[in-house]
Amino acid sequence: MAQDTLTVTDNRTGKVYVIPIRYGTYPEYGASISAMDLRQIKVSENDFGLLSFDPGLTNTETTASAITFIDGERGILRYRGYPIEQLAEKSTFLEVAYLLIHGKLPTFAEFTDWTNKIVQNMLIHESIKKFLDGFHSNAHAMGVFVGTLGAKSTFYPAAKNVLDPKQRMRETINIIASVPTIAAYTYRHSCGLPYVYPDPSLSYIYNFLSMLFRMQPGKEEIYHNPVIERALDVLFILHADHEQNCSTTTMRTVGSALSDPYSAISAAAGALYGQLHGGANQEALEMLSQIGTKENIPAFIERVKNHETRLMGFGHRVYKNYDPRAKIIKKMADQVLEVTGPDPLIDVARELECIALSDEYFIKRKLYPNVDFYSGIIYKALGFPVDMFPVLFALARTAGWLSHWLELMGNEDERKIVRPRQQYVGEDVREYVPMDDRT
Ligand code: CMC
Repeated sequence: MAQDTLTVTDNRTGKVYVIPIRYGTYPEYGASISAMDLRQIKVSENDFGLLSFDPGLTNTETTASAITFIDGERGILRYRGYPIEQLAEKSTFLEVAYLLIHGKLPTFAEFTDWTNKIVQNMLIHESIKKFLDGFHSNAHAMGVFVGTLGAKSTFYPAAKNVLDPKQRMRETINIIASVPTIAAYTYRHSCGLPYVYPDPSLSYIYNFLSMLFRMQPGKEEIYHNPVIERALDVLFILHADHEQNCSTTTMRTVGSALSDPYSAISAAAGALYGQLHGGANQEALEMLSQIGTKENIPAFIERVKNHETRLMGFGHRVYKNYDPRAKIIKKMADQVLEVTGPDPLIDVARELECIALSDEYFIKRKLYPNVDFYSGIIYKALGFPVDMFPVLFALARTAGWLSHWLELMGNEDERKIVRPRQQYVGEDVREYVPMDDRT
């Protein structure tokens, strides 16, 4: 009879071990063994026991999470069980943030209360403006964003009470409310424009657009347009969570040390800043600009295939199919460009996708467009400079980071400080040599 166990024979000793197999909601995904069950496998009593070696955590589950489900082979993404396509069509970012944080869709009364709390907390401490002013006007927007989030922890000392669930929820609301303001102020600072305060009578997204573009010649069209408002809302929904990626794992790792959520989220945003993660949308747009015209695509593809460069916005550790978020963003890019005017880069992007998807190199490696391939075209159309792209990603991902942090902090059994092991491959013990005797 089939059993949910794994039988392992250690050929060094001939001993046989029976290790239980654990499952998540879907047995066909995520069957795993507990790494600690390997520890009993020893050659002698003094042996530390067997460990698993997994740089990049490519085959390691670090948590059991009820937030987001991804089937990378079939291109499926769900938040709390709801398909991303339905949320993108019917929901709003603030409702999705509620869903991620609380695990259920809100009733009308819950949603009204949630929205009011968030919108009323969008104003940031006046001193943070001075702090922002200290950054050079050409500082990378993501560097400013990361630094300001970290600095915010000094304004909220009570946030250190991370073991208090009420305090955790207060800071969660405060952070979701303040990230659009920090992002908008970052942008205004880089343009040398006066900061625009949030207005509690406006919606979350419209507030963000207003703080970005008010009193800016040529931008009124953008911030008054419902298509643009909806496009930003949908982009935020699509970026809100993506289970255990590099930045979310960073959030959980820093959170596991019981650091305050501002420090943890600043670290998570720092991870997102990297060009292989949230920085890829900036890289993808810069790549499209460098390619410039369709005629240059074949030469560029050859360089990619020779491993001289990567096709940014393509490929994913988990998706081995079309990223469902990219499908939605590709369609939305057309709607946005109808409002803002045509951009030849979308034709370059479409042609690049078409050529790549029919090329053996990409087919063999299952490389498809990811969330970053088309999002940059929309951000550019909205008038954002490229270094704001990862900030927009981070703003939306804040809801996901916080939901994972809350899940971790609320689970006393799993809330262990992250402390992996290493395999030491360095020198054996050696005697210290005085400097004069060294050759
Ligand atoms: N262009 C060209 N070749 C690629 C690409 C790409 N974008 N991505 C992977 N490959 C190749 C890679 O060279 C390797 O080929 P080979 O076996 O001949 O050495 C093979 O595919 C496997 O690549 P890998 O680097 O081992 O795959 P990974 O799972 O470690 O990397 C990735 C995932 C996202 C870092 C990678 O696909 C990549 O660098 N993509 C471009 C950057 C990008 O768009 N990142 C955004 C990801 S989505 C947003 C997010 O969640 O952060």
